[in-house]
Amino acid sequence: MITNTELELKGNQFPNHIVSYNKNIDVLDFKTENDVTLQITIVRDSVIRFRYSTTSNFDNDFSYAITKYASTGYNFLEIEEEEEQYIITTQKLICHVNKQDLKVNIYDAKDKSLISHDELGFHWEESYEFGGDIVKMSKTSQDGESYYGLGDKPSHLNLKGKRFENWVTDSYAYGKDTDPIYKAIPFYTGLHHGKSYGIFFDNTFRSFFDFAHERKNVTSFWAQGGEMNYYFIYGPKMTDVVANYTDLTGKPHQLPALWTLGYHQCKWSYYPESKVKEVTAKFRELQIPCDAIYLDIDYMEGFRCFTWNKEYFPDPKGMVQELLEDGFKTIVIIDPGIKIDKDYEVYKEGIENDYFCRRADGPYMKGKVWPGECYFPDFTNPKVRDWWSGLFKELIEDIGVKGVWNDMNEPAVMEVPNKTFPDDVRHDYDGNPCSHRKAHNIYGMQMARATYQGLKKFGYPKRPFVITRAAYAGTQRYTSSWTGDNIATWEHLWIANVQAQRMALSGFSFIGSDIGGFAEQPNGELYARWIQLGVFHPFCRTHSSGDHGEQEPWMFGEEITGIVKKFIELRYQLLPYLYTSFWHYLNEGTPILKSLVLYDQEDIQTHYRTDEFIFGDQILVCPIIEANSKGRRLYLPKGNWYNYWNNEVSSGGKEHWVEADLDSMPIFVKEGAIIPKYPIQQYVGEKEIDEVGLDVYFKTGKENSFLFDDAHDGYDYTKGRFSLRTFKLTGKTNELIIQQHKAGTFITSYKTFKLKLIGLPFKISKIQVDNEEIALESLKVNGDNTLIIDKDFTELHIME
Ligand code: GLC
Repeated sequence: MITNTELELKGNQFPNHIVSYNKNIDVLDFKTENDVTLQITIVRDSVIRFRYSTTSNFDNDFSYAITKYASTGYNFLEIEEEEEQYIITTQKLICHVNKQDLKVNIYDAKDKSLISHDELGFHWEESYEFGGDIVKMSKTSQDGESYYGLGDKPSHLNLKGKRFENWVTDSYAYGKDTDPIYKAIPFYTGLHHGKSYGIFFDNTFRSFFDFAHERKNVTSFWAQGGEMNYYFIYGPKMTDVVANYTDLTGKPHQLPALWTLGYHQCKWSYYPESKVKEVTAKFRELQIPCDAIYLDIDYMEGFRCFTWNKEYFPDPKGMVQELLEDGFKTIVIIDPGIKIDKDYEVYKEGIENDYFCRRADGPYMKGKVWPGECYFPDFTNPKVRDWWSGLFKELIEDIGVKGVWNDMNEPAVMEVPNKTFPDDVRHDYDGNPCSHRKAHNIYGMQMARATYQGLKKFGYPKRPFVITRAAYAGTQRYTSSWTGDNIATWEHLWIANVQAQRMALSGFSFIGSDIGGFAEQPNGELYARWIQLGVFHPFCRTHSSGDHGEQEPWMFGEEITGIVKKFIELRYQLLPYLYTSFWHYLNEGTPILKSLVLYDQEDIQTHYRTDEFIFGDQILVCPIIEANSKGRRLYLPKGNWYNYWNNEVSSGGKEHWVEADLDSMPIFVKEGAIIPKYPIQQYVGEKEIDEVGLDVYFKTGKENSFLFDDAHDGYDYTKGRFSLRTFKLTGKTNELIIQQHKAGTFITSYKTFKLKLIGLPFKISKIQVDNEEIALESLKVNGDNTLIIDKDFTELHIME
């Protein structure tokens, strides 16, 4: 054997001293004597991109994650050269690049505090197995630093002390700390000394993050190929970090149709047609609201995508239509594996056009999934995405299906140890051909994107609705998601809570878990507790494998049915509040669920809390995640909070014991909030909403609240046909003032507001609407003060 000892001993390699510097507007190139190039791009005052090459050339700059709609531009940029370093200054950041070793330090421009410090900084190892580099970065972990984000990791919300891998994986019945699972979102937020920053490592190869696990004072990340290419995103507020990351990787391309925020019922599988109807009829009979019913793989003919099993579903169009008349939108599953069957149209088209992924040596990639042996479309090829989107014509346009659920798109392959494609499989990668090592983490994202394009096209002028299991950074632009095959255990209820918050912190708010658990069966108590949490997740669906019994809301006896109904009804009442939160998410990139640390990062009590979260801006939710609980301890952030159930006020900044029997769950409303509410409906659109409830929670001081409305579907809102109302509340010991500011041209169906005045510290003796006094008789006093007023009021004064 001939060994090249020089190569073998190479190990980690480092850049040496800078020999040239070049600036082209907002792109700065630093080259070292040993051919490393660091390219720094000033994206915004608070967002800087760092890109390293070890060969002095860069590959084509292409990313599936970064959206073309990302904001760019800065207010200030200055570059100075000193003896030891280059200094780059923007309005928000100061960045030092060391001339000797290319290490970078980043400071807050305002108070000059150190935010990010390269420990070893950029380094690399040659990958003899595959060619190219294993690219690495290590930074100092600062005193008391905490870490958040990273997608769907089923671990403690604060990632400190742990190591993670990003490689999307089919993970049936995963558990706490299983890693990796379905999603790869290589973005984290660090928080130290009250300041927060984010790092998005836009590299789709298998990557790793180590948060002070291997070495206590070091945080590092690396990938098995590709470039060291990361975005540094500065806050110092964590909300701004997440919002800026979301701006970079994209907000959802449109609002979800309001019905998609209703309750969804799913099972593997509801069939035949009579079973589907039995389930939907039961919802209506028991008056449990529900908007969507799902067909899992058994609706197809031998699991062939885009076909129907005509024995189970002789008239899909008729059934879908009838369900719709009863308010149920039908959602069907579509997987990536296309059955190898020479008589199957989709297969034939794929072969004729060479749309399937190939092995490096030429043959198509063959793998087993539900239909048996399959080929897999290369969704990284724009032509294939086009073709795929076209396949939805019949389902959407003709049959009337309203949503598509993309599953197994990691891609999952059965009966092979690595559960997916071999590394050598080739992908087009939008004209940047590569192996599966690079395309794996974005395969599912591109499938969901192609599906989204089909639904958008054929569902027009309605908004598309897609659900995906696999995701990479940026997937939130196209689709909602769920957390995969969880288990009906209490531990998984904890996991579901953490995952939904973590996904929100990772720019992906439209997320939920399989309520009740997918594998195994919950008892009534667990199901009730899960529904209580689930109705506060943006995507709200019960799903189960069905192997262990039924999981409809009424399967656990009368008491549980009543509790489930009560909480789903609460969800429907809060729809305008949730829809408004979505609108904020779409416009500002602020997550819909806010972990306490995001809500108040300055309060260190929040840094390690996992259970409580803020739903929207003003409702605090804390699920009960243990059996036999009569209540729980929870932490209320600073400020005063009303207990939703009894309107008692508690002060925050400390822990409280809160009673919560099985029919209840701790919910608190921030003082000063005005919470919009709909009447209970069995499905969205069942009733014409002519009045919106506004629950006004008195506060001494000021608080703003919002109410967004539009046609609840379609795109008119993008042309200004929306209605955005801002309510400015000012409370004094003897007076309450609510000012309303209106924007947008949409005429809402509601004409009046029904105000419920909660916690008023005085007895009302005078009411003025737009400076005119109104009769006190219009005020109903029945526990709370209720008042109905015209929706277009400008100023309401309520006086002692
Ligand atoms: C996968 C999915 C699950 C689905 C099942 C059958 O396990 O994660 O949700 O029900 O496949 O399609």
